[in-house]
Amino acid sequence: MQAMHPDIERVLITEDEMRERVAQMGQAITRDYAGQEAGIIVVSVLRGAAIFMADLVREIHLPLEMDYMAISSYGSGVKSSGVLNVQKDVSSDIAGKHVIIAEDIIDSGLTLSKTIEHLRAMGPASVQVAALLHKNTSNQVEIDARYVGFEIEDEFVVGYGLDYAERYRNLPYLGVLKPAVYATVDGQ
Ligand code: PRP
Repeated sequence: MQAMHPDIERVLITEDEMRERVAQMGQAITRDYAGQEAGIIVVSVLRGAAIFMADLVREIHLPLEMDYMAISSYGSGVKSSGVLNVQKDVSSDIAGKHVIIAEDIIDSGLTLSKTIEHLRAMGPASVQVAALLHKNTSNQVEIDARYVGFEIEDEFVVGYGLDYAERYRNLPYLGVLKPAVYATVDGQ
């Protein structure tokens, strides 16, 4: 097993736990969507969700398409204003299809609520959410996520796609970052 990164205080979800839970989520989706007439399209919002998406789709044993959106975020400003600034929209025509949004984390819920609204306006057959992580924070927009991997506390987590200052996305586990690290990076 790989040694823990020195900037990580503790591992919250191991690589094995992650694999097992993502497989369960894929099985649930496979079961729920089996026999559907309309096509399935899994959409992820770059960049954090790319790793979860890649693992999740390989656990869904049904024909599906994959698509990506990119949303710009100016620090926390865009999120608090609740405006969705779409840098890259889905490439496919999603009208009449079953959309599953693969998201890495629901924090305030603003990104997802706006993304759902945006995709619904394109006339899909349905829109559901598969979120790997759901953070227990007080100021959440209520998101009805059908598939949730893990409920986590309000801690600074990185790895498995999640970054701090664009680092740590490639760690295969989810870890809590050492507080000293934010001080270092912020101080640059
Ligand atoms: C993260 C994450 C979610 C969003 C969740 O993205 O990937 O999309 O924040 O936060 P919310 O529920 O408070 O809206 P981020 O903007 O950090 O971009 P990234 O995916 O490129 O890391």
